[in-house]
Amino acid sequence: MSNRQNCDSGCLSPLELYERVTTQGDKVRSLKTAEAPKDEIDTAVKLLLSLKLMYKATTGQDYKAGSPPTDFTPINNAPAITEDDDFVDPWTVQTSSAKGVDYDKLIVRFGSSKIDKELINRIERVTGQKPHHFLRRGIFFSHRDMNQILDAYENKKPFYLYTGRGPSSEAMHVGHLIPFIFTKWLQEVFDIPLVIQLTDDEKYLWKDLTVERAYEYTIENAKDIIACGFDINKTFIFSDLDYLGMSPGFYKNIVKIQKHVTFNQVKGIFGFTDSDCIGKISFPAIQAAPSFSSTFPQIFKGKEDIQCLIPCAIDQDPYFRMTRDVAPRLGYPKPALLHSVFFPALQGAQTKMSASDPNSSIFLADTPKQIKTKINKHAFSGGKDTIEEHRKYGGNCDVDVSYMYLTFFLEDDDKLEQLKQAYTSGALLTGELKKALIETLQPLIAAHQERRKQVTNEMQALAQALIEEDHGE
Ligand code: TYM
Repeated sequence: MSNRQNCDSGCLSPLELYERVTTQGDKVRSLKTAEAPKDEIDTAVKLLLSLKLMYKATTGQDYKAGSPPTDFTPINNAPAITEDDDFVDPWTVQTSSAKGVDYDKLIVRFGSSKIDKELINRIERVTGQKPHHFLRRGIFFSHRDMNQILDAYENKKPFYLYTGRGPSSEAMHVGHLIPFIFTKWLQEVFDIPLVIQLTDDEKYLWKDLTVERAYEYTIENAKDIIACGFDINKTFIFSDLDYLGMSPGFYKNIVKIQKHVTFNQVKGIFGFTDSDCIGKISFPAIQAAPSFSSTFPQIFKGKEDIQCLIPCAIDQDPYFRMTRDVAPRLGYPKPALLHSVFFPALQGAQTKMSASDPNSSIFLADTPKQIKTKINKHAFSGGKDTIEEHRKYGGNCDVDVSYMYLTFFLEDDDKLEQLKQAYTSGALLTGELKKALIETLQPLIAAHQERRKQVTNEMQALAQALIEEDHGE
């Protein structure tokens, strides 16, 4: 059913998979010995279990420590794709490369399409707008069916935007802003309705959180999201814990999806195991349902055929591969997608940004001083060890986190190029590059905080109220 399943059996050779399982098993053991935080152990165990599943799917045999595969019968004969150490799903983003995940390989593995120059030119032609720098710089790098959306726009057919956030903590980091900043641009350019799902139910199911706490995080995160500046009259932000219980349209679609997806399929896509709670197993239907316009009869007047466009980072794709697979069987259009890369942790692309580690990223609540200290102390540098060497050989922008952050947040193309040239040639030192990043981020975060303060209860209520204009025509 999913590309992931094809990939599971085709991406890595049995021996490579065997080695991955062994290494991950060692990692789990050492985390347990070191009494690492429960979250970290759980993530590592989950990855181990999904690797074991992939191993079994590829070889038809259970993984046995100390017995590397000698003979196996492949379950399907999908072409083998070059191996790498990247692993991406909604809970784990892992790479061993300082440059980050190899996104071109991910496109092949996930079976999506690259956002190439031709598509970017078409977006510019059709909308009459200069493409957002996230498009120009390959930050949104992959898509599914974006050409259909552009056709719809040209033919004046309605479509809508859907994105979301899983409120796992009060604090959102700058990485979480990426899809929202881009969604705001899309809403402005296409002038269309937007639904934003806050999956507090998901976070309750996956994290050590009470329902009440997850809901409190929803309220706080909603303020940060509203502060991004969406058209409040065309935007509907909802908490699953709140809205599911009062929306028959939503629940009807959830059960329809649940009826058309088997446990085997979600095991294959998400790596669920028999010991996962049933809430997790059925959750993908809840994230899938907003991709169908009939989930929001109050917005789309019961119309079932309005296509949806979902901007998100590529980690969320498994949910939407499942959704796209099930859509035709329900008589609904498949949602289109725009995927972004990951914003790296300050310590480098191999490290995970974590809400529980304040030094792993810049958070939306950080003060100017915190931003400066974090960048100066923690941003991984691609510079050389001494000034003399740096002047002679230059710095490496491919692994330098300050430069990577600037590609996300410094909008001026010429200035970015100048910084790149100067850093690569050695004329600009790491401290100076960091200064450029600090000076870019401080005003940006301060402006966000100012807008967040302006988010009134009325604005929040409006965004959470059901849009009642007719968007179905
Ligand atoms: P969550 O809260 O993990 O992430 C929210 C959004 O931010 C993206 N994201 C990132 N983008 C760039 N760099 C990063 N380091 C980074 N970390 C996270 C995610 O891809 C996501 O778009 N289950 C979802 C919530 C959800 C959703 C949706 C997301 C429900 N419906 C529809 C996208 C589209 C979640 O927990 O996201």
